Amino acid sequence: MKKLCAAVNAADKRSHINREIYGNFSEHLGRCIYNGIYVGENSSIPNTAGVRNDIIEAFKEIRLPVLRWPGGCFADEYHWRDGIGDKEKRPKMVNTHWGGVTEDNSFGTHEFFNMCEEIGCEPYLSANVGSGTVEEMADWIEYITFDGVSPLADERRKNGREKPWKLKYLGIGNENWGCGGNMRPEYYADLYRRYQTYCRNFSGNELYKIASGPNVDDYHWTDTIMGIIGDWHAKAISLHYYTIPSGDFAHKGSAVDFTDEVYYQTISQARRIERLIDKHAAIMKKYSDNMKLAVDEWGCWFDVEEGTNPGFLYQQNTMRDAMVAAVSLNIFNSRSDVVSMANIAQAVNVLQAVILTEGEKLVKTPTYHIFDMYKTHQDSELVYSFTENFETNGMPAVSQSVSVGKEGMTLTFANASLDEGAHIDCSILGFKAQNAEARILTGEVHTFNDFADGDRIAPSAHAVDITDSGISFELPPCSVVSILLS
Ligand code: AHR
Repeated sequence: MKKLCAAVNAADKRSHINREIYGNFSEHLGRCIYNGIYVGENSSIPNTAGVRNDIIEAFKEIRLPVLRWPGGCFADEYHWRDGIGDKEKRPKMVNTHWGGVTEDNSFGTHEFFNMCEEIGCEPYLSANVGSGTVEEMADWIEYITFDGVSPLADERRKNGREKPWKLKYLGIGNENWGCGGNMRPEYYADLYRRYQTYCRNFSGNELYKIASGPNVDDYHWTDTIMGIIGDWHAKAISLHYYTIPSGDFAHKGSAVDFTDEVYYQTISQARRIERLIDKHAAIMKKYSDNMKLAVDEWGCWFDVEEGTNPGFLYQQNTMRDAMVAAVSLNIFNSRSDVVSMANIAQAVNVLQAVILTEGEKLVKTPTYHIFDMYKTHQDSELVYSFTENFETNGMPAVSQSVSVGKEGMTLTFANASLDEGAHIDCSILGFKAQNAEARILTGEVHTFNDFADGDRIAPSAHAVDITDSGISFELPPCSVVSILLS
């Protein structure tokens, strides 16, 4: 067991951790919406207006702050008018990106916004630039947010919603360098300027507009977009980065069957997001001190589970995914001066899902538990922290972030090493702890939570000693520890 020193200075405040960093993403893809979140009013599965009650409860439990919808690639083919009004009369469409299945549009604007209200999270719309029109986008905003008398607001009322909803986060297109229209950055940036012009702030609603940003390390995209858009028309640009052990979409590998070497490659690939954020942020800084990054798609992307539709992107979720989530969230916290939002892909039954369902059964994945253990970081202030480290497979084993908020001081530590644990002696300046509540998530790295066996990976209470100078605790191999001091 390693003996490591750590230090925290509560008086050295660095940046505000927006709660939106703990966001999720939900797309009309596979079983994320249909047979996942939304089962319909007539389902025997307990639901509120068609949305599973157990999912609503699970999202409330982690204090889900924001949910992105309806895509992803689906967003640039989505026409919002198809998803309002009498469900029997809603037109059907082919979901060309995801399995070629029929989309019946029974989950649309009203269903999404009402669900967000039920959960208590901000809706984040990703609106169609690729195949939509300026008028269509402008109308959607008016339909949702206008309180006065207009044909669109009246139509909303006729469809059952008297008062407008609140809409803050608006993404103008998705991956417009790829599935969102294969555009060049110059062309997209001009389109962005035009589309966003007509997305108005109605009735006291204030939009936080997000431009479609780069894929991974496409610094040219960031540079060009920033040069043309600046920060007059947008508050943030998005960044998409998926963790693939080999770094190659053609060779993703199994979600549950992997060697130690592949595990370490996965962690190393996850850690790459730190450099990506720093480099994109440095480019953005040339043009603006205010522009933020919304990492609105991130997480592990592995091969689909055997026997499932390849277009549905259904994968299991092991302790390895939990480690990736813990390391990534520590990075987002530590870069919260520039990262204003992050949305794991995706919420339910797709990619690194926090929840998996099968019929009426539901499991909370190891990744879900990380979001639960980290939730007191939301809307807290990041403070200075440092941990003496050790190397595992050529990279630092321990990652951490510390914040101070309403509930006290939250410290989250992750140890990526599979065979070496650590004893941490952490001195704390500027905060005197009276109470320590700690939880640990650990287990054999291939373990996942299955429908048959329930939560094999779940947090349990962990011992922390309050010392004269701070705290001390153990950080076993392949574990995540969260501590709330008050
Ligand atoms: O999350 C799955 C897909 O990945 C999204 O639809 C797209 O934006 C990205 O390429």
